[in-house]
Amino acid sequence: MIHNLIIFASGTGTNAKAVIEYFKNDPRVQVSLIVCNNPAAGVIRNAEKENIPVLLIDRDSFGQDSFPRLLSEYNPSLILLAGFLWKIPESTVRTYEGKIINIHPALLPAYGGKGMYGMRVHESVLAAGEKKSGITIHYVNEKYDEGAIILQAQCPVLPDDTADVLAARIHRLEHFYLPRTIRFLLDTYREPAI
Ligand code: GRF
Repeated sequence: MIHNLIIFASGTGTNAKAVIEYFKNDPRVQVSLIVCNNPAAGVIRNAEKENIPVLLIDRDSFGQDSFPRLLSEYNPSLILLAGFLWKIPESTVRTYEGKIINIHPALLPAYGGKGMYGMRVHESVLAAGEKKSGITIHYVNEKYDEGAIILQAQCPVLPDDTADVLAARIHRLEHFYLPRTIRFLLDTYREPAI
């Protein structure tokens, strides 16, 4: 069985890139679509380089009932949110229940929720004097950052860390664990019984 992977990303796309690279020579897994809401996002340039189709969305197309059907044309085993900030509409969450995962750059439930993204997360972790931070890969439900946790990995927060330094350490964790978690999920994948 060939697994199709859809990646939602609207930023630099380093995680999308790590996943694309990891599965590049694996005939069982295909990154079949990148969904993006930012025409200037770095992730688009990389998708073009790799010949992966890009679906550029706006609020209207995203919110429409036809959106889950549009995704179904790509028959995804898994949908990955990697740096995608819009809340996923309920109809899409319902249609793909158990198939949408998100990566968050902190140890949820701490430092999650609406508005907690990018550098704000790391700045808050530093401001609170935390001794450790990390990443969370979790299923997506209707609430921001609240779905069941699949994997967490920790790293230290060091006394001299700036938000940039911490962000780089977190990115390294993400790039290692995200593709491998996807590999695990696909290896244990079962089509839901109808
Ligand atoms: C990652 O830190 C991820 O945890 C968060 O958004 C960031 C995306 O980074 N959801 P990149 O665009 O993959 O570099």
